[in-house]
Amino acid sequence: MSEFTKEHYKLEGEKLTVFTYPAPVLKQVAKPVVEFNEELNKLVKDMFFTMYHAPGIGLAAPQVGKSIRLFVMDIDFDREKTLNSDGHTEWSFSNFNPMVIINPVFKQKDGEILYEEGCLSVPGVYEDVKRANHVVLEYQDLNGDKQSLEAEGTLAVCLQHENDHLDGIVFLERLSLLKRQFLTKKFLKAKKG
Ligand code: NI
Repeated sequence: MSEFTKEHYKLEGEKLTVFTYPAPVLKQVAKPVVEFNEELNKLVKDMFFTMYHAPGIGLAAPQVGKSIRLFVMDIDFDREKTLNSDGHTEWSFSNFNPMVIINPVFKQKDGEILYEEGCLSVPGVYEDVKRANHVVLEYQDLNGDKQSLEAEGTLAVCLQHENDHLDGIVFLERLSLLKRQFLTKKFLKAKKG
């Protein structure tokens, strides 16, 4: 990961609105990122800020209303509530391992894993999803440089979940029809209040 990415640990940023299912932007196939500029850097920074505070372990650009092929992830950070000097509670974060994945393409997918997933765009819903247990992913970093990543288990699952968002797929759509209909109904009912 580039040095620049480490700046995002500081968690200065803007909290972005996370769109929830069934927002149209979540169903679009996102466009490739072509410009690696300051605007993209700011978006990534704000996405990390939003993800860590949610809290979540992954956030894809379509979830914040940007239909581009980019997601951020951190599958094992620690989060702690602290009281600051003026009496406000705030969150402190440690053990960061932030990842920025741009224009990802799976080169390999094999094995099988059943893993309980959740999603910031489908709050309150958790369900086992079947995914490949081992993946090889090619992508670009924030500088636009080509990178490759081999992952297993939780990391492989998260990469597939986030990549699905870029293809307009939420994890509910990876479930059996019956489960999907049941959970979707339940979620939409809860959302209505
Ligand atoms: Ni998600």
